[in-house]
Amino acid sequence: MRKLIAGNWKMNGLLAELEDVAAISEAVAAHPSVDTALCIPATLIRPAAGRFADMAIGGQDCHMAVSGAHTGCVSAEMLADAGAKLTIVGHSERRAAQGESDADIRGKALAARRAGIAAIVCVGETEAERDAGQAEAVVLHQLTGSLTDDATGDWLSVAYEPVWAIGTGRIPSVEDVAAMHAAIRAALVARFGAGGADIRILYGGSMNGENAASLLAIPNVDGGLIGGASLKAEKFLPIVAAAASA
Ligand code: 13P
Repeated sequence: MRKLIAGNWKMNGLLAELEDVAAISEAVAAHPSVDTALCIPATLIRPAAGRFADMAIGGQDCHMAVSGAHTGCVSAEMLADAGAKLTIVGHSERRAAQGESDADIRGKALAARRAGIAAIVCVGETEAERDAGQAEAVVLHQLTGSLTDDATGDWLSVAYEPVWAIGTGRIPSVEDVAAMHAAIRAALVARFGAGGADIRILYGGSMNGENAASLLAIPNVDGGLIGGASLKAEKFLPIVAAAASA
């Protein structure tokens, strides 16, 4: 399976930072064996998409409706119209701050498919849930509720992002990542049959140039969802290079 390395710029990036998108796009072109994407603020999608051919440009969220009275929201059709090829849905920062439920996220994933763009569906436990021995149960519950019945690997990926590893510099042990990704894979195969083996499972949370090679070598780790280290080419490129040689 080709690995996918996707950046998530979160709420960072003004028009001036398009030069960073350009630098990242030029750098990742050296690794055509890896699929790469950069999920940037919605305001930057139009100017970035089309200009940088080597890397898919995506959004970070979408509304489940096509259009309507939803002040401040952006639909999947609007993302596609702006040139996005994918969107993240269900990031833990949105689950926590916007109170998004698994059903909301399922609706957003369906919206992405309807609009003809790919979806990265995020799941992950909090530190308290891990400490309580609930990590796998929480993640599999989120997975069941957040995925649509027609999920296939050509338009959907899952990102396992332990909440306590995001932006903290802490990562789970290789054994814990391996166990969680194996559990997610088994759940995908149980639900979708052989097609479940083709759905990419990304790891996210403090992935960087130093730890990427060991994380990406773990079975069922089919790529990464990268926050802080995706903002600059010199931090993002070593992760893409690690994926190319994984
Ligand atoms: P960091 O790579 O900054 O920990 O963020 C991970 C993340 O939340 C990606 O969606």
